[in-house]
Amino acid sequence: MEQDLALESVRVTEAAALACARLMGQGDEHLAYYSAVEAMSKALKNLPIKGTIAIGAGEPEDSPQLYGGEQIGSGDFPEVEIALNPLEGTTICATGGPNSISVVAIGKKGSFFPCPDVYMEKIAVGPKARGVIDLNLSPAENLKNIADALGCYIEDLTVVILNRPRHQELIQQVRGAGARIKLIGDGDVSAAIATALKGSGVDILMGIGGAKQGVLAAAALKCLKGDIQGRLCPQPGSDIPGPYLDKVLTIDDLVKGENISFAATGITDGDMLKGVRFFSGGAHTYSLVMSSQYRTIRFIETDHYLPY
Ligand code: FBP
Repeated sequence: MEQDLALESVRVTEAAALACARLMGQGDEHLAYYSAVEAMSKALKNLPIKGTIAIGAGEPEDSPQLYGGEQIGSGDFPEVEIALNPLEGTTICATGGPNSISVVAIGKKGSFFPCPDVYMEKIAVGPKARGVIDLNLSPAENLKNIADALGCYIEDLTVVILNRPRHQELIQQVRGAGARIKLIGDGDVSAAIATALKGSGVDILMGIGGAKQGVLAAAALKCLKGDIQGRLCPQPGSDIPGPYLDKVLTIDDLVKGENISFAATGITDGDMLKGVRFFSGGAHTYSLVMSSQYRTIRFIETDHYLPY
């Protein structure tokens, strides 16, 4: 029987979450981030895969570990590609805010869109609104189509938007259409995934965030049968390859195929997952583990007994 890589990869996100959760609220983003990088790198090296990092912690010159193109894993088989973020929401972790998570997605070679380090305009929804979103439409038109798909009024919808000056116009348009808004400080991967989870209280993610985060969200939404579209935003100093300028990237452009494993572990408390809880002699973690191949979605709680 083929191994379920989702179940294997949760150890990797747990390791990263445990490492940086120790530094929650300490105000040191770099230390928190690199603790997570180091722990995730160590755990990935032990995973029985022959992996290549497609979306990592940076370029080789910036990041000695978990950089894009790095070969990682302890096996010769299966040959896979990895998209990861050891600590999604560095500021959140450093301030003890909500929704920082550790994330890993694994797929076959060529699964993940090789995006440059730029921003991406995004719209993400859960399974009921799959197929009705279109970045070429206005926010009001998208909200109308999503409300129709969900069988509710636009006024019933809750839209998550990163609280940034660049979103002033978007916020006005969403308010004008009558939808409810939840402004978040950081962490749009967690917010995008939450749109596809029952009871999360959010229906749509809209706005501009990191492009790599868009690919990670797409991997999770593939497993959850949700939907996402993205459009790369030009930025000084980062080139967007010609064919992708102004192109609306669908979920299948962002993550190819149906063979995706995804794991996320909560670092701080959030809408989707609780954060790490330390107790005498160990810690408790909360993870979401999914496989599009095996069509499984698991919420896993784990006690880790740690050396003193
Ligand atoms: P980091 O973990 O890299 O800090 O990303 C946090 C985040 O909020 C992402 O969730 C989001 O996509 C991106 O930053 C938005 O970028 P910016 O903070 O520059 O608006």
